Amino acid sequence: MSRAIRAIDSMEILDSRGNPTIRTFVELEDGTVGVASVPSGASTGENEALELRDGDPKRFGGKGVLKAVANVKEVIAPRLKGIDPIRQQEIDQIMIELDSTKFKKNLGANAILSVSMAVCRAAAKSLGLPLYEYIGGCSANRLPVPMLNVLNGGAHADSSVDFQEFMIVPLGAPTFTEAMRYAAETFHALKKILKEKGHATSVGDEGGFAPNTLKSNEEPCELIVEAIEKAGYRPGEDIAIALDPAASSFYKDGKYVLSRSGAGEKTSDEIIEILKDWVSKYPIVSIEDGLGEEDWDGFKKLTQEIGDKIQIVGDDIFVTNTEFIKKGIELGTANSVLIKLNQIGSVSETVEAIRLCREAGWTYVVSHRSGETEDDFIADFTVAMDGRQIKTGSTCRSERLCKYNRLMEIERELGKAARYENPYS
Ligand code: PGA
Ligand code: ZN
Repeated sequence: MSRAIRAIDSMEILDSRGNPTIRTFVELEDGTVGVASVPSGASTGENEALELRDGDPKRFGGKGVLKAVANVKEVIAPRLKGIDPIRQQEIDQIMIELDSTKFKKNLGANAILSVSMAVCRAAAKSLGLPLYEYIGGCSANRLPVPMLNVLNGGAHADSSVDFQEFMIVPLGAPTFTEAMRYAAETFHALKKILKEKGHATSVGDEGGFAPNTLKSNEEPCELIVEAIEKAGYRPGEDIAIALDPAASSFYKDGKYVLSRSGAGEKTSDEIIEILKDWVSKYPIVSIEDGLGEEDWDGFKKLTQEIGDKIQIVGDDIFVTNTEFIKKGIELGTANSVLIKLNQIGSVSETVEAIRLCREAGWTYVVSHRSGETEDDFIADFTVAMDGRQIKTGSTCRSERLCKYNRLMEIERELGKAARYENPYS
């Protein structure tokens, strides 16, 4: 029986913040259906591919995605009908050409990516292969080290912390499944510590705690080290720290404005000094977006000063776009890239971005968005791409856990072949 695409349908659903997003269904002639949902960021980079929203104030405050849904059903579906879904690159290319703009402004990156991912799923399912094996081949066997955002600030919470993400990285665990136990235990230890110190323990968008009574941007680092120890682990050896200040979100007119914590305005050099000081005091292995996306010089300086010791990840500055990653590699702007499928808008282009990182000897971290769905595509995708790190939130909120739980499932499925290794050693 033919495996060709028979029909593509799409609908508007809600993400983890209660905002509309798109879910797409790709049905094949053999009856297989591949389904995919697209996430949505809050601290987005200026050069991300366009997330098409309706702008109709009468629906969801203008955030509806019915135009993107219509683009899937009326423009993309008729063009892809009859094509074999294993022709992923060709299908993505057809959609890119149908759109014909640099940032997917006609059809919307949300529309295109939903089809791209659903096509990929349908193909894997039709062939009877797990998604990670379909994309990554039979040698895909490495589980990523998770970066778990246990304390949320910045654009992801109404907290007193300017920096967006404070993550724990259980790099010393023997397996991914054990890494998740280390992380969950530390998360609960942190909850106890926050409670004892009189802080609130409600959580932010990515499931990390979001107290609004912390006195500085540094305090989360101290509390996390305390939590790691309280949970019975060795800071740095069993569990390390990763940061994503998401500095673009507080970069204004050439200055870093730390208004929430009351730390005032800082220059690029001052931020670099703060980060260097923290790296000398805390077991930090990775800093993402320590500087703003316009501050290429600051990024490069940070990389020159501490890039030999820790991972310097570019998120908003590279937006998973090969054009910006190439420039970064040429200039020595960072040594790692955050990979978000919806920043660029198709599976094939994301794979291209990763290929570029590999060729340059850079690392890459596959990532969720702060607005997520129960779609766990990135779990399989990370294993397939031999991505040695994933960041997909804390150890609570099911839109975060579904990715981690899927990775535990993959580890179980791989059995003795599964590998879990410290990517920083
Ligand atoms: P976002 O946050 O999804 O809101 O952009 C995640 C990140 O900055 O890494
Ligand atoms: Zn980021």
